[in-house]
Amino acid sequence: MQNPNNRLAGQTAIVTGANSGIGEAVATGLGRDGANVVVNYISHPEVAEEIAHRISLDNLCGDAIAIRCDVSKEDQVQAMFKQTINHFGTVDICVPNAGLQRDAALHEMSLADWQLVLDVNLTGQFLCAREAIREFLRRGMRPEVSKSIGKIIHMSSVHEIIPWAGHANYAASKGAIVMLMESICQEYAHHKVRCNSIAPGAIKTEINRLAWDTEESLKKLNKLIPYKRIGIPEDIGSAAVWLASDESEYVNGTTIFVDGGMTCYPGFTTNG
Ligand code: BGC
Repeated sequence: MQNPNNRLAGQTAIVTGANSGIGEAVATGLGRDGANVVVNYISHPEVAEEIAHRISLDNLCGDAIAIRCDVSKEDQVQAMFKQTINHFGTVDICVPNAGLQRDAALHEMSLADWQLVLDVNLTGQFLCAREAIREFLRRGMRPEVSKSIGKIIHMSSVHEIIPWAGHANYAASKGAIVMLMESICQEYAHHKVRCNSIAPGAIKTEINRLAWDTEESLKKLNKLIPYKRIGIPEDIGSAAVWLASDESEYVNGTTIFVDGGMTCYPGFTTNG
């Protein structure tokens, strides 16, 4: 289904971790609005290729390709940007989305699990944002496609502000995204870079299957969501498309919570 608006026509987006869940929905949304899309993945190449194929069929103005890259590895991130620029000419929109959880009580958390989560969720976002900014500055403004030189949309989480027992590595990685995103905004906004985050709440994907795959767990989860429904990846996809488009031109250095009200302390509804 094409989007007649094609607000992102002529622009190219890299979405990391785009072969499932939130990343897939973001990549699909950006493609529907006319952007060329790089579907980044680390495993299951056939799934990524299939998603890229589907996005290109839906896209009136642009195309989509799949690129494998471990976002925590500097040389691989640089190679992904190089391949993207060779193929599509430049990068206008970067959505560092790839992320993972390795949950454990803190006193049982291995250094390896701490490190892996920080490497992917934080260092991966730094490496992608850095390459994106290098490309924006090299290429300069393209007023024919956007009022900004480029857009970075970090994928954060409600756990950038909600502490999370049993998930200290994950919460620490997301808490750090706030300062990374805001510092990038402060540093590069005068170049007309826009850098924002999306903080999803509980979105129905593989990462949190245990929280929604039985009636009982879903009921328990809904207690944390004032809006009383679990999110779907498309809830995040549409926010990302808006943040990538000129409709949000004056939005910079902010986090958009897409969480059904999860960050509004639902525990206080009948308490306190
Ligand atoms: C986590 C999910 C969790 C949600 C709300 C997300 O960032 O990845 O596992 O369900 O936050 O707690």
